[in-house]
Amino acid sequence: MILVTGGAGYIGSHACVALLSTGEDVVVFDNFCNSSPIALERVQKICGRPLTVVEGDVRDQAALEKVLTQYGCTSVMHFAGLKSVQDSVAQPLEYYDQNVIGSHRLLRAMQATGVRKIVFSSSATVYGTPQFLPYTEEHPLSAVNPYGRTKLMIEEMLRDQYASDTSWAVAILRYFNPVGAHESGLIGEDPKGVPNNLVPFVAQVAIGRRERLNIWGNDYETPDGTGVRDYIHVMDLAAGHVSALKVLDQPQCFSVNLGTGAGSSVLEVVRAFETASGRAIPFDIKPRRAGDIDAYYAATDYASKLLGWSATRSLQTMCADHWRWQSSNPNGYA
Ligand code: NAD
Ligand code: UFG
Repeated sequence: MILVTGGAGYIGSHACVALLSTGEDVVVFDNFCNSSPIALERVQKICGRPLTVVEGDVRDQAALEKVLTQYGCTSVMHFAGLKSVQDSVAQPLEYYDQNVIGSHRLLRAMQATGVRKIVFSSSATVYGTPQFLPYTEEHPLSAVNPYGRTKLMIEEMLRDQYASDTSWAVAILRYFNPVGAHESGLIGEDPKGVPNNLVPFVAQVAIGRRERLNIWGNDYETPDGTGVRDYIHVMDLAAGHVSALKVLDQPQCFSVNLGTGAGSSVLEVVRAFETASGRAIPFDIKPRRAGDIDAYYAATDYASKLLGWSATRSLQTMCADHWRWQSSNPNGYA
């Protein structure tokens, strides 16, 4: 049995599909602060198998210990946390509380119940400003905002815990830019309020919930002047988690990139989404967004060597699947 914290969220729900599809049993632990229980009903529909849902907060160590024991969990996938860079600047204490203290309580609960296998959702944000590209796992680590600092602190906590007890098995997965949805169109990303991220915003323009996209800058050091990122299909990302869990059969601690290795510009994403949706995406070029960098993308050699995993889906597939989800659920899970 695998405990999936934050399993109702965007990435967690897709990971649950991947886990259930490979025959694993899953108990989701989520407080639904940024998700809907409907996502988990849909996951079960896709897989034709049940999962267990427990509502709770990862900062509640006693509740976590109870779940780990009651369901005989042998490993944990830890997605629960807050993820908005902007909000983390406005409310840093909330981010340290939910992300850092939440992860600490989870590790305590695991220690108390003898569960020593964990896959953690980290982010390419821990590489900070690129000193070279692609980012390899050896790239120096730094954080440029409170959200990034929480990820870095949790990574350090995990490395320290493994150093103190090498019977632990720890996978730190550094995601690049997850987009897309399960090919059924039943589950997908459902951001609350105005989306900060590019693809959810573009999808809401395509469906008519927003009039125009703002492109934050076209004077970057990139081929067409707009920002370049490594977009990865969320189902490829989910498959990467299943591969990581297999490798954790042996005690070890590793950090690995989950990306495609290829960068796409904002304009390339807009064009791919127009093709996928058959809708025009009107946009305005606006000044740069604070804190954004020109370009970054992943080195992928270590992931293929260590996990035997690599991303397979194209930008076109990411947009087509994202659009299937958005067009069949114009208002998300609401
Ligand atoms: P999400 O907000 O959709 O999912 C997070 C889930 O955790 C939600 O279901 C939320 O209700 C739950 N949650 C939050 N705080 C909780 C708490 N204190 N107790 C219990 N449940 C709680 O986000 P996501 O995009 O699925 O991201 C999952 C993880 O991956 C996060 O840790 C995020 O930082 C990380 N990550 C995401 C991205 C991205 O672009 N989406 C990139 C890199 C890393
Ligand atoms: N962009 C726009 N208009 C928008 C939204 C985004 O032009 O409305 C541009 C950005 O300037 C950037 C690109 O689209 O060039 C991608 O932006 P996102 O906000 O989708 O993604 P980021 O790479 O900025 O940030 C993501 C996550 C962060 C994480 C970071 C590093 O949202 O949480 O990747 O992993 F920290």
